[in-house]
Amino acid sequence: MSNTTPFHKSVLVDAVVKYALPANGRIFVDGTFGLGGHSRAVLAACPSVEEVIGIDRDAEILDYSCKSLDDPRITRFQANASNLPEILAQKNLCGVDGILLDLGVSSWQLDNPARGFSFSRPGPLDMRMNSDDSQTAADLVNKLDRDELVRIFFEYGEEKFSRRIADAIVKQREISPFSTTDQLAKTVYDAVPAAGRHQTHIHPATRVFQALRIAVNKELDEIENFLSIVLGCLNPGGHLTMISFHSLEDRLVKTFMQKNQKGCECPPRFPVCVCGKKPQLQILTSKAIFAGENEIAENPRARSARLRAACKIDTGVARK
Ligand SMILES: C[S@@+](CC[C@H](N)C(=O)[O-])C[C@H]1O[C@@H](n2cnc3c(N)ncnc32)[C@H](O)[C@@H]1O
Repeated sequence: MSNTTPFHKSVLVDAVVKYALPANGRIFVDGTFGLGGHSRAVLAACPSVEEVIGIDRDAEILDYSCKSLDDPRITRFQANASNLPEILAQKNLCGVDGILLDLGVSSWQLDNPARGFSFSRPGPLDMRMNSDDSQTAADLVNKLDRDELVRIFFEYGEEKFSRRIADAIVKQREISPFSTTDQLAKTVYDAVPAAGRHQTHIHPATRVFQALRIAVNKELDEIENFLSIVLGCLNPGGHLTMISFHSLEDRLVKTFMQKNQKGCECPPRFPVCVCGKKPQLQILTSKAIFAGENEIAENPRARSARLRAACKIDTGVARK
C-alpha cells in the first residue's frame, strides 16, 4: 500500500444527500465508494439508514477507507457496481432504497503516481482501477493498432490531434515500448503542434490520459452493464442517483432515465397499446444538476460533474 495521504473532496454533496434515498430509506448502496465521502454525508443526514453497501473496483482505496470511515453500518465489497445483484443475493436482500454512482476516479487515485493515472508525476503506465484486471494502459498503448488508438483518443478524449498523437505513439513504440506515464506524456506533448498546445490551459496529454483510463477500465461498458441491472435492484420508491464527468457517460444515464420514464412505445396510429410497456422511473431532476461557482472554486474537479436522479415507480402504496 502507498503512503500517500488519502484525500478526495466529494462533489455535489448537498444534491447527493437530497436525492440519495426516499424518506425513511433504510438500505443505501454506494456503488463507487472511494474514500466514502458521500456515504459519510448520507449517514449523517439520513438517520433512517441502517445499512450501507459500499462497492469499489479498487481494493486499495477500499482498504484505506476503513481508516477514514469506520461505521458498523457499512459493509464493503471489492466489485464492479454492476455486480450488485450477486452482492444482494449474498446478503439475502431483494432490493435497496437508494443507489449512488459517482463515476470516474478519485483524487487519491489520480494523485498516487504508483497507479499511473496522471502524467503530472512519473509512474508506471497502469491506470487500472482493479489491479487484478489484465490490461494496463501500457498494454493498450504498445499493442493497439493505430486506428484503434485514434478512435479511443477521439471518442473518449475528444482529442482533435488524435491522428498525430497515435502516429507519434506508433513510431516511438517501435524504438522502445512505453512503460511510464512521463514517456507517454512527452510523446503526446511533442506530437501536438505548438499552436495547439497554447489553445487551452490544460496539458496536451490530459485528454489522452482520460481516454486511456476510460478504455483500460471499460468504463462505458460498465455503466451499460450497471444500467441493465439497476432497476431489478431497487425497491419500489427507491432512488437512483448518478454523477458523471464525461458527456458520453451522462448521455447513457440521461437516455436510460428518459427511456424508463416513458410508458407505451407503440406507434401513435395503433388504436390500443400492444407493447405493454409501463413507466418504471420518475425523473427527479428535470435537468442535470451542476456545481455552483463556490464549489468549483474550492474543488475544480466539480466543474464537469453533473448529477441526475430518478425514483423507481411504486405501483403499490406510495412511499415518497
Ligand atoms: C469519484 S470516486 C468516488 C468518490 C466517493 N463518492 C467519495 O465521495 O469519496 C470513484 C470511485 O469509484 C470507483 N469506481 C469507478 N467506477 C466503478 C464501478 N463501475 N464499479 C465500482 N467502482 C467503481 C473508483 O475506483 C473510485 O474509487
